[in-house]
Amino acid sequence: MLLKTKKIKKINKQQANSEKSEGGLVKILFVTSNEGKFREVEEIGKEFGVEVRWLKMEYEEVQGDDLEEIARRSAELLSDEIRGPFFIEDSGLFIDALKGFPGPYSSYVFKTIGNDGILKVMDGVSNRKAKFRAVIAYFDGERVRTFIGEVHGEIATEKRGGMGFGFDPIFEYQGKTFAEMGEEKNEVSHRRKALDTFFGSIVGMP
Ligand code: IMP
Repeated sequence: MLLKTKKIKKINKQQANSEKSEGGLVKILFVTSNEGKFREVEEIGKEFGVEVRWLKMEYEEVQGDDLEEIARRSAELLSDEIRGPFFIEDSGLFIDALKGFPGPYSSYVFKTIGNDGILKVMDGVSNRKAKFRAVIAYFDGERVRTFIGEVHGEIATEKRGGMGFGFDPIFEYQGKTFAEMGEEKNEVSHRRKALDTFFGSIVGMP
């Protein structure tokens, strides 16, 4: 596997932890440079009594064609830099008519051709089915565990809505794009599904 050459900022190791405070609140460190992602995860965490702390940084992301493997390997590499538990999350948009593309290459595709490019590629295509997949890779201090969530929808024919981030304006779920749904997105998204299982496991729920 190749490594993406991303600049690693120095980490304050003291920032990294997961602990139970006196009030019983679980605190856990989320490593991401994406504020949109962090805000969604923070909100969902509150429902579980989990305080999500943000370590805003870019990190070396392993390249590959399997999202789960990418997230797992990236977390393993990061565990050399961060002492104590933390998690990362890797997502991808998989379009049926493009045989799952961009999938693990979603970040690159978003940065290069963006939503307009996807709409152009999908122009005139009748099968508009797509899914988002989120993989959380949690380093518990000893090993990495992964948690997966998916949501099925369609690629819209035009960008709609002003909320969210990334592909949200072109991903339609039951008639509305994620960018039109605002906080409703958090109830149904791929990230929500992965977090339900992850937070459920760290706060000891089934
Ligand atoms: P990554 O997980 O940050 O590597 O995400 C890959 C690409 O998918 C990035 O361009 C993100 O902006 C985009 N992306 C990730 N999650 C979402 C989401 O919930 N909605 C829309 N786009 C997303």
